[in-house]
Amino acid sequence: MKLVLLGPSGAGKGTQAKFLSKAYDIPHISTGDILRGHIARSTEIGLQIEHIMDTGKLVPDEIVIELVRERVIEPDCAKGFILDGFPRNLYQAKELCTMDFEIDKVICIRLDDEVIIKRMSGRFTCPECNSVYHTDYYPTKEKGICDACGSALIQREDDKEATVVNRLKIYHDMTEPIIAFFSGVHLLSEIDGLGTAEEISAQIMNLF
Ligand code: AP5
Ligand code: MG
Repeated sequence: MKLVLLGPSGAGKGTQAKFLSKAYDIPHISTGDILRGHIARSTEIGLQIEHIMDTGKLVPDEIVIELVRERVIEPDCAKGFILDGFPRNLYQAKELCTMDFEIDKVICIRLDDEVIIKRMSGRFTCPECNSVYHTDYYPTKEKGICDACGSALIQREDDKEATVVNRLKIYHDMTEPIIAFFSGVHLLSEIDGLGTAEEISAQIMNLF
């Protein structure tokens, strides 16, 4: 099964992708996580994109598209995968459609900007295994420590409120148009992102 998760920053794409990845035993491919990995390792790509990501702008298409093309041909993707954060504009959506496989479903998680800003201020992530927590909604057992791997949690550089507002504007301007694109090719399902993560997961599972 080859899925795309769409939705604004903080809508819960990563949270739901992790759940689906376990449920269907297929990899979760987050372009944001891959790009943050490059920054953490100070690769050539990482040095090129660090400032772009910190300010919440989109990384150049050619970099992201190449990273996705390379990732989806890895052996663990043979049974399928969940794309989270890609595509992010019409050009990327069209490029995805030229790749050597067919997408089964595009799931868009909708959530209002005000709810998102509140969620983002409480998010903590694990730089090692990319687990996601929230101080109020999904706290860790031990404060500041990842339940899954025991690493110290961090707040993402792009989670400052001003940057979140900027990322939401980019979502509305650049990413929202691809909702109509996928609806036009009959791949789109829309989910209300308000509710607990478990409730959203149940809604998504009902689509299959
Ligand atoms: P990326 O990492 O993809 O960030 P994003 O799309 O902005 O989304 P987030 O990861 O912030 O949110 P999410 O929807 O995954 O929510 P989460 O599950 O964490 O991209 C980052 C940057 O990389 C971009 O700005 C860009 O620079 C670059 N980039 C990436 N892909 C690119 C591309 N294709 N092209 C160009 N550039 C690209 O949940 C958020 C919080 O809410 C967490 O604390 C979580 O615990 C909590 N939560 C989740 N669900 C619920 C719930 N139901 N109720 C209460 N709290 C919840
Ligand atoms: Mg995410």
